[in-house]
Amino acid sequence: MTIDFEGRVAIVTGAGGGLGRAYALELARRGARVVVNDLGGTRDGTGQSDAAARVVEEILATGGTAIANGASVTDPRAVAAMIETARAEYGGVHILINNAGILRDKSFAKMSVEDFRAVIDVHLVGSAICTKAVWETMREQAYGRILMTASSTGLYGNFGQANYGAAKLGLAGLAKTLALEGAKYNTKVNTIAPVAATRMTEDLFPPELLERFQPELVVPAALFLVSDEAPTNVILGAGAGVVQAAYVTLTRGVALGEGERTPEGVAAHFAEIAGREGEIVPQSGAEQTMSILQRLQGQ
Ligand code: NAI
Repeated sequence: MTIDFEGRVAIVTGAGGGLGRAYALELARRGARVVVNDLGGTRDGTGQSDAAARVVEEILATGGTAIANGASVTDPRAVAAMIETARAEYGGVHILINNAGILRDKSFAKMSVEDFRAVIDVHLVGSAICTKAVWETMREQAYGRILMTASSTGLYGNFGQANYGAAKLGLAGLAKTLALEGAKYNTKVNTIAPVAATRMTEDLFPPELLERFQPELVVPAALFLVSDEAPTNVILGAGAGVVQAAYVTLTRGVALGEGERTPEGVAAHFAEIAGREGEIVPQSGAEQTMSILQRLQGQ
């Protein structure tokens, strides 16, 4: 099987460098017409540059098709204009990779509310703004592929990244509901948790690992998740050529007896409650309710 993107129009946000650039180059190489979005700021989200235009030059130089867009993903009007341009120039939008992001790392004790909001605004609200702007087009086309960018910090935590982690797990949550709402319209929504040596992580990686974690090695997982063959409601981790799947699971738990429905009852059963034997991966929130009812029936 060959995965190509002939006839597809893809928008990649934050594609002026790092992972977004790598996604955009490979999408274009495989036939997509690409909108390379990036406001070209610094790592903390300040400033602007022509980063997107430089990636478009690279794509054009190799015979691909792309246009640059400098909208901030946090600006609904500028994002709406970007979608309009994509529709006008290329006739639709089939793929959206929400990849733009910033960092304002600090321990929670020292983190200002402003730094918390700024990070949520770019990652979580920005992805919602871009997704909302393409949602109707994808419904009309009965075709859409959307990728959210989470992070190991969101899924598992990381010291000094409370704002970033909240935004990133929020994105995985956003993807889960949109996967359900998009199903009827052949719109598949997935999440990637990449690990790559980019300017975002350059001071975290030991030098000997920088070489192994090239952004290009995340591209296969990301492109599979926005291809015709894509599953939906999947979270993939990807880095250095290793691809993993992450799940939000639910244990079987314990149906507390009448006299045990107390904090002490929970404490007494905690090991069994947390025990992982027979855990499930619910495909919607309603499945938690169903599993509770099953437990009450003694199943
Ligand atoms: P990067 O800093 O090279 O890429 C982020 C891009 O987003 C930058 O080019 C930046 O200008 C752009 N951007 C920032 N704010 C924007 C806005 N408001 N509107 C439009 N563009 C904006 O870093 P990297 O590593 O390529 O990050 C890409 C995504 O992957 C981010 O969402 C990041 O959080 C995520 N990620 C990266 C990991 C890694 O190991 N590199 C780990 C986990 C997640």
